[in-house]
Amino acid sequence: MTAGKKALLAGMFCVSLFNAGERALAQGKMSFVVKPAQIKASVQPTMWGVFFEDINLGADGGLYAELVKNRSFEFDTPMMGWKEEKKEGQDGSYLILNTGNRSKANRRYIRLDSRSEKGYGLTNEGFRGMGIKKDNGYDFSVWARQADNTRSRIKVSLVTPEGAEIGTATVSPEGSEWKKYTASFKASATEPKARLQVSLDGKGTVDLDMISLFPQDTWKRRPGGLRADMVQLLADMKPGFLRFPGGCIVEGRTLDERFQWKKTIGNVEDRDLIINRWNVEFKHRLTPDYFQTFGLGFYEYFQLCEDIGASPLPILNCGMACQFNTAEVVPVDQLDPYVQDALDLIEFANGPVSSVWGKKRAEMGHPAPFNLKMLGVGNENWGEQYIERLKIFTKAIKSKYPDIRIVNSSGTDPDGARFDYLNKELRAMNADIIDEHYYRAPQWFLENASRYDNYDRKGPKIFAGEYAAQSVRIASPDNKNNWECALAEAAFMTGLERNADVVTMASYAPLFAHAEGWQWSPDLIWVDNLRSYGTANYQVQRLFSVNKGNSVVPLLLNNKPVAGQEKVYASAVLDSKTNELILKVVNAAGKEQSGDFMIEGKNAKKGTVTELSSSKLDAVNSFDQPQTISPVSRPAHLTGGKLTINMKPYSVNLIRLAL
Ligand code: AHR
Repeated sequence: MTAGKKALLAGMFCVSLFNAGERALAQGKMSFVVKPAQIKASVQPTMWGVFFEDINLGADGGLYAELVKNRSFEFDTPMMGWKEEKKEGQDGSYLILNTGNRSKANRRYIRLDSRSEKGYGLTNEGFRGMGIKKDNGYDFSVWARQADNTRSRIKVSLVTPEGAEIGTATVSPEGSEWKKYTASFKASATEPKARLQVSLDGKGTVDLDMISLFPQDTWKRRPGGLRADMVQLLADMKPGFLRFPGGCIVEGRTLDERFQWKKTIGNVEDRDLIINRWNVEFKHRLTPDYFQTFGLGFYEYFQLCEDIGASPLPILNCGMACQFNTAEVVPVDQLDPYVQDALDLIEFANGPVSSVWGKKRAEMGHPAPFNLKMLGVGNENWGEQYIERLKIFTKAIKSKYPDIRIVNSSGTDPDGARFDYLNKELRAMNADIIDEHYYRAPQWFLENASRYDNYDRKGPKIFAGEYAAQSVRIASPDNKNNWECALAEAAFMTGLERNADVVTMASYAPLFAHAEGWQWSPDLIWVDNLRSYGTANYQVQRLFSVNKGNSVVPLLLNNKPVAGQEKVYASAVLDSKTNELILKVVNAAGKEQSGDFMIEGKNAKKGTVTELSSSKLDAVNSFDQPQTISPVSRPAHLTGGKLTINMKPYSVNLIRLAL
């Protein structure tokens, strides 16, 4: 017998064993009915998206691939991240200068004065070290000028914590004018905790600024770009939208520290750095070296959306600082610049190259519009002050851009006085989209799988803009991305999908966390300097997103939607492009359960079942075991239009059937 035949027979044996197992359990099975002919609602292309915020070193130290921390000496403590490096026989000193005369956004630079032939220099520690890969190329750049008449060369070296050199290059600044110098080199070893040494190789005095090092293997190999492995994880989700930049970071602790998109475009050296509001937010997770360079600014954001096929959804400050912090508000009669920022952002995204802001977009390299269709006004803002300001924004945006859909805040919680007030006001305003947030216990997600079954079908659409089951409690550093939370979110998401006529968008929050620099847990994707992995929650999000289909059809148990009977939660959609029926069935019970799925009026014969499961509710994915919770597929066979499947304890079952 050939090896191929043996494998085939072995496969058949497994299938028949498996079928025997399915039959054995089928005794107490449930009988579900699916009605593919009765289309209940359309699933919007935006249904499952992602929400990026610069929290947990999400941008600087994360997605933005810059390896040098405090590259322009603009942190509050100008030498943060830098250390003087005096090797044997070296002598020199440094001086931080602040002139303000080169560019308002980048006022400081450093003067290195080497007084020995053996040179003198500095070391940058990176963001918890620098992740360096063997044979990868690295691009070094620096703005420099000679401060005396010498012609000092600058030597740059990547070194391991033990001091071994794993990559080096030199640049030779000339003259007393500021100029940008670049050098590229390859790394000879992989090292997660490298440092960058920058030194003068003889006597001399040189001024330096914007000392930068990027890997060449960025996303799409764009110089100065984004970390490719992190973008890839997003692209793999095929997200319908990308909400950006927050989150509370939109609001800032104070209005001065709010996110201002206009300061995040143009040359990176002219972008005005500010403190990251998560730097000091949690006493138990202080991150004093967390700032925003805005290297990942609004242009890069729109470009990223385009790359991964996601609709952009920017959120803008509404004239209110974070109400958990200072709660500062702009007087209503001085709101104009804020409103103008919103109008200008639409022009930056969509305007013709002849417009002021469209021209800036074109100058940055993208003459074609970015096709912005939605805009959020305010993040988790609440109270009368919010409604008062929102009305002014809405009037201005709608009169100039009637087709732009506005996302409105319903505050911090999915219920309570703040929510009730805003929900009533927003519905009275005939708001386009209401953003609801839920950071709740897993049990809440199970109990709320029917939340939208009775929502007003004619009112505003719902954006489940931030949600994540909390294994301990909101903002607890002990929260885990465990299977219990992911399973509960999956159950809840079947309720969102079932109500896709009301809920048109949903995104888990937060998105990224650096293992050594996070403030908030749980998070969808964890990274360190070299690695990244999707959590169990990520696997759930991806499964739903890549199987979103385009029309909702009924999936019933005893003639009712499946929302917790026998601890099962389910939804069904059709994918008209592939002519498939897609079922999502969550077994939240700790026992195996069996179900017959009768597909009415269609003679479906085969398909696949893809399962996410773990018998342990506290199971998690990790850097070392990123696939503990990951999809496993098997073929599915139907007889007489009926599919029988055994659902493992604590499992999410994705069934695709060819119609
Ligand atoms: O996702 C973390 C934070 O939670 C967001 O910044 C904020 O909107 C919410 O309170």
